[in-house]
Amino acid sequence: MKIVVIGGTGLIGSKTVERLRGQGHEVIAASPNTGVNTITGEGLSEALAGTDVVLDLANSPSFEDKAVLEFFETSGRNLIAAEKAAGVRHHIALSVVGTERLQESGYFRGKLAQEKLIRQSGIPYTIVHSTQFMEFLSGIAQSGTVGQTVHLSPAYVQPIASDDVADAMAKAALSAPANATVEIAGPERVRLSELVARYLKATNDARVVEADPEARYFGARLDDNSLVSNDNPHLGNITFEQWFATSKSAK
Ligand SMILES: NC(=O)c1ccc[n+]([C@@H]2O[C@H](COP(=O)([O-])OP(=O)(O)OC[C@H]3O[C@@H](n4cnc5c(N)ncnc54)[C@H](OP(=O)(O)O)[C@@H]3O)[C@@H](O)[C@H]2O)c1
Repeated sequence: MKIVVIGGTGLIGSKTVERLRGQGHEVIAASPNTGVNTITGEGLSEALAGTDVVLDLANSPSFEDKAVLEFFETSGRNLIAAEKAAGVRHHIALSVVGTERLQESGYFRGKLAQEKLIRQSGIPYTIVHSTQFMEFLSGIAQSGTVGQTVHLSPAYVQPIASDDVADAMAKAALSAPANATVEIAGPERVRLSELVARYLKATNDARVVEADPEARYFGARLDDNSLVSNDNPHLGNITFEQWFATSKSAK
């Protein structure tokens, strides 16, 4: 089977490409760095020729409100048009658990726009909603940092390791389209402020976390249900302690 992974050089993309190639599939890791750009259209129709399945694992280079919306709308439109021309049979995209509840945030308005284009495209699809990646904890800490204090909501999170996400994406590529949203999450539910405090301590980072229910998560106020799934998500196996013990990005 020929599979194109848009964003195939990224965190989840590169691990997913590795898994699918390991199972003997013909896989193109498509990204600007490999000559395929979903914004300009460069290399897109050539990459998609004869493709059965497309996994969209790209992310916006800028998280600024307008830039994110433009990225996911333009990329989504170009990709859908190219997939229709190539006769692609299954489009899979990675989005975030709670996207529809986080619409105060420009980033999540961009993700919802991406999802809407997919649902309306007529191409059989699977949207995978994931909770926060463990590898993203340092980015979350950075987003709440003012001086030496990290302001974060104590809302619940259920972080998942990128290896578990890549397993789920590879599995979705080899399964029939769900024509629905499916959810994946990590094995443990913890409070965001407490988890980031543990992470900073474990990485010998001197910043101090202040739990503040009003602290915004990329622009959105959180409650205990915002970032977690109550819909029986498929659970990853890797705990925070296991991830921390083995992951390079945790050191
Ligand atoms: N972070 C989280 O906790 C979280 C949780 C749930 C879902 N997600 C979603 O997971 C997805 C993947 O995230 P990630 O952290 O793996 O991303 P990442 O490591 O930042 O990688 C982004 C990828 O997008 C590619 N890209 C950028 N502009 C492109 C363009 N114009 N055309 C084609 N490809 C382009 C990049 O290519 P180059 O290397 O060539 O620049 C790179 O391969 C995102 O959609 C995100 O919303 C994230």
